Amino acid sequence: MTCAVQPILWTRKQLRLLDQRELPHEVRWLDCRSAADVASAIHEMAVRGAPAIGIAAAYGLVLALRADADAFDRAFAVLAASRPTAVNLRWALERMRGVWLASRDVDALEAEAVRIHDEDLAQNLKIGDHGAALLDSGARVITHCNTGALATGGHGTALGVIRSAWALNRLAMVYHTETRPWLQGARLTAWELQQEGIPSKLIADGAAAYLMASETIDWVIVGADRIAANGDTANKIGTYALAVAARRHGVKFMVAAPSGTFDLRCSSGREIPIEQRPATELTEFRGRAVAPAGVDAFNPVFDVTPAELIDAIVCEHGVVEKPDATRIARVLGRPVSP
Ligand code: MRU
Repeated sequence: MTCAVQPILWTRKQLRLLDQRELPHEVRWLDCRSAADVASAIHEMAVRGAPAIGIAAAYGLVLALRADADAFDRAFAVLAASRPTAVNLRWALERMRGVWLASRDVDALEAEAVRIHDEDLAQNLKIGDHGAALLDSGARVITHCNTGALATGGHGTALGVIRSAWALNRLAMVYHTETRPWLQGARLTAWELQQEGIPSKLIADGAAAYLMASETIDWVIVGADRIAANGDTANKIGTYALAVAARRHGVKFMVAAPSGTFDLRCSSGREIPIEQRPATELTEFRGRAVAPAGVDAFNPVFDVTPAELIDAIVCEHGVVEKPDATRIARVLGRPVSP
């Protein structure tokens, strides 16, 4: 199974990113020629989604090192600072650092970036298989934000599970939230689902609990930006509210993410840094004020869902049911962190 949407194109001299701020109305490509260009594209949300920003950052290091063989630490720092919550960014940079320290060879660095990119697609296809196997036929699901090909190296994580379930004829309906304030659901998930002909309906973020109360919903399926050792999961703001509502209404809750999203150095969600973005993202819409002048705002763009509200975490290695530190370590094949 392949995926037509390719948001990250590498041409050896430059990185081309599909500018996700303009979708679905305009398909515009952004050319990045330096680590600073890539860091800015990540910070400004031209490329977004945890795995996608890790892949872009890896290519950013290659651009930096092709221009200046002494640039590794500087480029690493600029890219690592571009967004704080998704650990995939740091995970990819650290993988690249391992190769650089061992080889001091830009071609080896480039090969590693391409490997990170290719592996992500392969992992997502496995996540899709594992996640879809949990769904009964005729499943009706809710998803949040955009976790599709646009957010990854292809296929997607939560949206990958949905794609795989659709291919297996197990899916009846996908409700996807708008995902304010950036509208990743309304703009991007809608676009991907439409291209695949998957039956779907857009809902306001605030409509999810009502939907669970009034219709049969089998699963909420979301992605993740960082999963702590105990299974607490940071994801797009609003995910926690979906998990609370799901538990209240007997709806199962699935997190789908590659193993690079686990951060076993965080023992719980309390240690996950949550990105706060400018108040103008709430007080304005496309440069036009929607709130009275001078109004203050609180704009955390991720939240943490406690592990106890999660029925299954699905990664490329398999399914962690009722996640806790021991079960996660077992599926990842890594020791439980101290
Ligand atoms: O702010 P964004 O758009 O980068 O947030 C994206 C999410 O929260 C996704 O759910 C997460 O990164 C997983 S993407 C496969």
